[in-house]
Amino acid sequence: MKIGFLQFGPVFGEVEANLRKVRKLIGDTSCDVLVLPELFSTGYTFRNRSELRAVSETVPKGRTVQFLREVSSEKKMAIVGGFPERVGRKVYNASLLCLPGGRFHLYRKKHLYHFEKKLFSVAHDPFEPFPVNGGVKLGLLICFDWIFPEAMRTLSLSGAHIICHSANLVLSYCQDAMITRALENRVFIITANRTGTEKRGRFTHRFTGMSQVVSPEGRILTRADEREEVLSVVRINPRAAKNKNITPLNNIIRDRRKALY
Ligand code: ACM
Repeated sequence: MKIGFLQFGPVFGEVEANLRKVRKLIGDTSCDVLVLPELFSTGYTFRNRSELRAVSETVPKGRTVQFLREVSSEKKMAIVGGFPERVGRKVYNASLLCLPGGRFHLYRKKHLYHFEKKLFSVAHDPFEPFPVNGGVKLGLLICFDWIFPEAMRTLSLSGAHIICHSANLVLSYCQDAMITRALENRVFIITANRTGTEKRGRFTHRFTGMSQVVSPEGRILTRADEREEVLSVVRINPRAAKNKNITPLNNIIRDRRKALY
């Protein structure tokens, strides 16, 4: 399987320009699973809820949602990307996995970071991996979800082999911490982060780039630098994520001492 990320610096509020940029960066590349950053078409630093509402989208009619579905069908690949999802009076920080046949799977961020708590609604739906080709299951997380080990553990216990992590990371810990997350769950993790700085209202966010793919053995298979706009794809064998043995006598799922935790 070929899996990867697209890292770039969206321009705040310029949805059409950001979608054009993504299309251009994808170019002729094709792969099986491609992950784009969190809120990749709108930017991140909303000053208030009305700004956020103005660019929020419903599923499946929204502009970004349509774009993801079109690219997925055209390129015959699974694609994941983040957007603000409007449901009645609520707006969720969401990501959508689109498959070439038209099926899609929606994920809503469970752990809101800092001022996001004033902007977005917190989601309550369960962590559920979604099957793609050949029995491979993808699990979705969004940015700050990473810091809660239970999130990825729950997806792994439900059979996820590849975690698609759309991000707008501003703290410096995640990329290295994902080595441990991959190892402790024996899964592949694709983190698609953004680049650049957004200064709006009282907030300045400097995004840390360094998007990466990590293997179940905790190896960084590819990693971007902090600034480059790049699409990077690696070849993997997803079966590696089915083997939960860390030694012949240690299985990281079965050996848990659940009664003591
Ligand atoms: C974040 O969760 N976007 C920092």
